[in-house]
Amino acid sequence: MRKLPLSLFASALATAGFLGCYMDTATSWDPNGNPNGNTDPDSGATPLDDAGNPIASGVPCDVETILNTYCWSCHGVTPSAPSRLVTYSDLTKTSVSNSANTEAQQALVRMKSTTSPMPSSGTKPTASEIAAFEAWVTGGALKGASCGGTPVVADDAAAPPNPYNTPLQCSSNKTSTTDEGSSMRPGDTCINCHTTQGKCTKSSCKFSIAGTVYPTAHEPNNCIGIAGSTVVITDSNNVTVNLTVNSAGTFTSSAALVAPFTVKVVNGSKTRAMSAKAPSGDCNSCHTATGAQNAPGRIMAP
Ligand code: HEC
Ligand code: HEC
Ligand code: HEC
Repeated sequence: MRKLPLSLFASALATAGFLGCYMDTATSWDPNGNPNGNTDPDSGATPLDDAGNPIASGVPCDVETILNTYCWSCHGVTPSAPSRLVTYSDLTKTSVSNSANTEAQQALVRMKSTTSPMPSSGTKPTASEIAAFEAWVTGGALKGASCGGTPVVADDAAAPPNPYNTPLQCSSNKTSTTDEGSSMRPGDTCINCHTTQGKCTKSSCKFSIAGTVYPTAHEPNNCIGIAGSTVVITDSNNVTVNLTVNSAGTFTSSAALVAPFTVKVVNGSKTRAMSAKAPSGDCNSCHTATGAQNAPGRIMAP
């Protein structure tokens, strides 16, 4: 789009509305100012940039821009989320979370969802951006000329493995045999058992925060997790505590902290942050082996 003359841009918009840069008709103009004329967005040919290099993703520029702005921080080239949503192939394959939909269709569902919206926190796409994305999806999700900006990924570049697509396994191969104490029952819902079920009434086991860090996404209860990270919790009064993960993989705090919490796990220069605020300090209540309440599984070491 960058070099499209303004008049043509305006008329393309006027005739095709949002579909301006991916309409399914042969066009005589070159959305990328590309001298070789290889520009029909739906020709299936690889769009080329000014230097003749293949352009990025195969996804129309306006759609790509929405994904770049709101999604690529987690669903980017090296995703922390379960799926890469960068290239045309990424978006047209079956969704990892709903086999009835393509990733593009499921992305639309999640963008419009009020119960589990994407992005789960932070700035959301505007109504007109969602409408533009929807127009593309319902219009058949056609290939188009991408912006040619970063990240440049060839459409056929294999997506990195989904970090959550791992089997149920106990990576440490060690089960905790501790009956009571900070190494007991790693992975289990410490606060629920201690507080709600009244299993431990001592002040030393009244926790405001408790959870377990694992090397992979799906690990059974009582399996020993992984030490080495620090869990950083900031409560709603802006009080921050740094919790050391112990040799069972568990971290706890008995500080008087007020939910909801902003949370991240840090290991050296690597971080994994929860994008939404955690409504409770009983981290393992959502971060179960399979994942509950939309959590993708265990809290993983970064
Ligand atoms: C801050 C990180 C983050 C951002 C930003 C983000 N996501 Fe997600 N997304 C996740 C995580 C983590 C999951 C897995 C948990 C879940 O399903 O809620 C996920 C899951 C999904 C899923 C279900 C898995 C799949 O691929 O079928 C879709 C679809 C999705 N996101 C689409 C989007 C779209 C579209 C945007 C941008 C509008 C977006 N996400 C922005 C972190 C993020
Ligand atoms: C099945 C219920 C249950 C679960 C789940 C559970 N605990 Fe316990 N915990 C207990 C009981 C019972 C005691 C002993 C209470 C007593 O001696 O009064 C205890 C004792 C403790 C103590 C020792 C307190 C003291 O000073 O004696 C710590 C620390 C502790 N638990 C941490 C945890 C952590 C961390 C988790 C989660 C990873 C957890 N527990 C999960 C039931 C549970
Ligand atoms: C009510 C359920 C719930 C609770 C309680 C909860 N989480 Fe989460 N957590 C989620 C969901 C859903 C996601 C994925 C979407 C997101 O990042 O917001 C997530 C994501 C995360 C991630 C990022 C995952 C990744 O692979 O990038 C981390 C780290 C995390 N949580 C840590 C924690 C910690 C630490 C606690 C306890 C203080 C906690 N969570 C409590 C639901 C929960």
